[in-house]
Amino acid sequence: MDTKRLAGEYAVDFIKEGMTIGLGTGSTVYWTIQKLGELVREGLSIRGVPTSKQTEQLAKELQIPLVSLSEVDELDLTIDGADEISDDLQLTKGGGGALLREKLVATASKQLIIVADESKLVSHLGQFPLPVEVVPFAAEHTAQRICTLVGCTTTLRLQNNKPYITDNGNFIVDCAFPEFIANPIETHQFLKTLTGVVETGLFINMAHIVVIGKSNGVKKLISQNK
Ligand code: A5P
Repeated sequence: MDTKRLAGEYAVDFIKEGMTIGLGTGSTVYWTIQKLGELVREGLSIRGVPTSKQTEQLAKELQIPLVSLSEVDELDLTIDGADEISDDLQLTKGGGGALLREKLVATASKQLIIVADESKLVSHLGQFPLPVEVVPFAAEHTAQRICTLVGCTTTLRLQNNKPYITDNGNFIVDCAFPEFIANPIETHQFLKTLTGVVETGLFINMAHIVVIGKSNGVKKLISQNK
């Protein structure tokens, strides 16, 4: 079986009757949402909070009841994918551009469960360019300042030769590091101080459990920081 599918489907085991669930974005959590749709059809009562318009659309097609984040105080758990996962379960996310809503939903959740295949496990974060969401106004200036002050190469993400626009109406700057991000916590904190930066794709001390799909089954990694 597809290892993303294996991890994605496994994660529905964490979902219990009556829960409010953050629904992540991407090709791995796609399988979680599909399976959840089956369970809802069979009578499971849950509410989902989508982390992107793409996921909202998918959940609606599967008739999963949805609420917006503004309507709930706290979520029981969020299940989402990741672009990179380090040994200490720090993450980079936002390859699909949904990092801001993903972080808002995960922050409001008691638990964040990450689903991924083995290709996402890395010794150091930052081998995959780090997505940073920036306001569109003078985005080139913000990108240039990130490049100079952080020491990475910045590229404004494009779609059809125009800046890619997030669900929040912002742009994404992809930051390529020479080798890797030496200190993810400091990098995240520093980026957040720059005017024009809305959010970074570094998810620090947020994941509780990581479910990795492997060719011979599923491996569960539990955070020691939580
Ligand atoms: C969306 O913006 C991302 O954070 C995704 O969660 C991440 O890219 C994982 O996607 P896949 O499961 O498709 O690899």
